[in-house]
Amino acid sequence: MNRLPLFCDVAMARRIERVEAQLMAAATQAACLRRADRGGFVMRVAGGVATFAEDGSPFDKIAGLGFDGTPDAAVLDRIERAFAERGAPVQAEVSELADPAVGALLTDRGYWLASFENVLGLTLDGGYERVAFPGIEVRVGRDDEFEAWLDAVVEGFAHPDDQGVPSHEEFPRHVLANAERDFAAAGVVHYIALCDGTVAGGGSLRIADGVAQLTGAATAPAYRRRGVQTALLSARLADAAAAGCDIAVVTTQPGSKSQQNVQRRGFHLLYSRSVLVKQAPAEGAVNRRDASTTDHVTRKVRGPGTETPDALRVVQYDGSREKLRPLFELAEDSPTQLDGYIEDGRVLVALRGTDMVGHLQLVATDQPDIFEIKNMAVREDLQRTGVGKRLVDCAIDLVARESGRRLLVATAAADIGNLRFYQRQGFRMRTVERDAFTLRTGYEPGTVIEGIELRDRVWLDHLLDRPAPS
Ligand SMILES: CC(C)(COP(=O)(O)OP(=O)(O)OC[C@H]1O[C@@H](n2cnc3c(N)ncnc32)[C@H](O)[C@@H]1OP(=O)(O)O)[C@@H](O)C(=O)NCCC(=O)NCCS
Repeated sequence: MNRLPLFCDVAMARRIERVEAQLMAAATQAACLRRADRGGFVMRVAGGVATFAEDGSPFDKIAGLGFDGTPDAAVLDRIERAFAERGAPVQAEVSELADPAVGALLTDRGYWLASFENVLGLTLDGGYERVAFPGIEVRVGRDDEFEAWLDAVVEGFAHPDDQGVPSHEEFPRHVLANAERDFAAAGVVHYIALCDGTVAGGGSLRIADGVAQLTGAATAPAYRRRGVQTALLSARLADAAAAGCDIAVVTTQPGSKSQQNVQRRGFHLLYSRSVLVKQAPAEGAVNRRDASTTDHVTRKVRGPGTETPDALRVVQYDGSREKLRPLFELAEDSPTQLDGYIEDGRVLVALRGTDMVGHLQLVATDQPDIFEIKNMAVREDLQRTGVGKRLVDCAIDLVARESGRRLLVATAAADIGNLRFYQRQGFRMRTVERDAFTLRTGYEPGTVIEGIELRDRVWLDHLLDRPAPS
């Protein structure tokens, strides 16, 4: 079908930049959970976000500035200090449709223009027809195909096309692989292209606020010029249109083969982003993170190669909640109550290998700096082995990184074990809700825990006095 070129006004750019900033925040949160250290951060700034995942990561940047006021100088000071403490430059990617005051502010602060990148878009109003290519099968990759997908995509990135303006940055292979894993943990869906049964390339799709973000597209060098990328693009666009997206966007290097490819498929240039960089001050000019923190980071970071197969990992979970129901049920006696909240908030899962051995559901409250652990449990055969503590530690980190000040949890007064568990994690008792567990609220009468009738609920809280990064 004939598609009209998109006209990108400030409102559309705001929407696209907002979902981009959300994606960076979600992927960086996933990186922080994967690394299980305190090296990363997510800091909100004037409608955008400053994120640091790990050394040299493509997520180390400021995204989405300039659509919700100008950033406060004190906040920028804090962000610049946080990057400097990690020995990293600050890279702000600013849309040309952003408030011009942002460019002026950053150049005043010593940022210099390192390069540009292009954001292209296609309207999906009216649907998008998937095109079949002989010999190429494109579909959503299965979990057990993720490593093959990753190999193909990372291999593809390692051999970029040499058309157009070269990128000002290069990412080591293991950093790219980590970034793709973090994208997956943040809910980005991976599409796989198979030629004669072999993985030839991949691409990714994230849908947010009606915007289809196309990321991570690469074809292994041996399979180039056969239509693999066109097939991947068409499949993702068709799925995005069917899911109700009205616009698809992609970011490319100016004048690159990728830009040419998407323009051939009907995309138009919406806007460019200026990439503004401020170098980290010379060694010694800032207080690097104190020795104990650095030591902690070095001790705890485990590279992919050094992780034992059954090492415990905590990641954000974006799959079906129903799959986790047996775990939720360990902590909730009322099916009615569980049905009412199982889909709420975010869920962290503890993985041993590929087995989900525990979970923690974190929900927002009506106060922006207060969060609640709504439900958590550890597989029965692995209770009392430290999994619950690890989940709570990760939840505390996550909440602290989002400037949360208080974490709440409620448990049955009868459950002495849980009361011990939460107090061992630093929670303190706050209030008692008498007769919270009744037939009226969905609980069978006569339930007894450790000889005590299930009746009252105890609220506990944990004050997060940890300062924000920097
Ligand atoms: C409560 C629960 C999540 C704790 O997870 P866990 O992995 O067993 O806990 P950990 O091994 O990390 O224990 C951390 C500390 O809490 C203590 N603890 C955990 N469960 C305990 C219990 N039932 N009784 C006494 N202490 C307990 C541990 O001994 C350990 O203490 P330590 O610091 O002195 O060594 C887990 O037991 C569970 O899934 N229970 C069933 C579901 C449930 O009730 N969830 C909570 C709903 S509010």
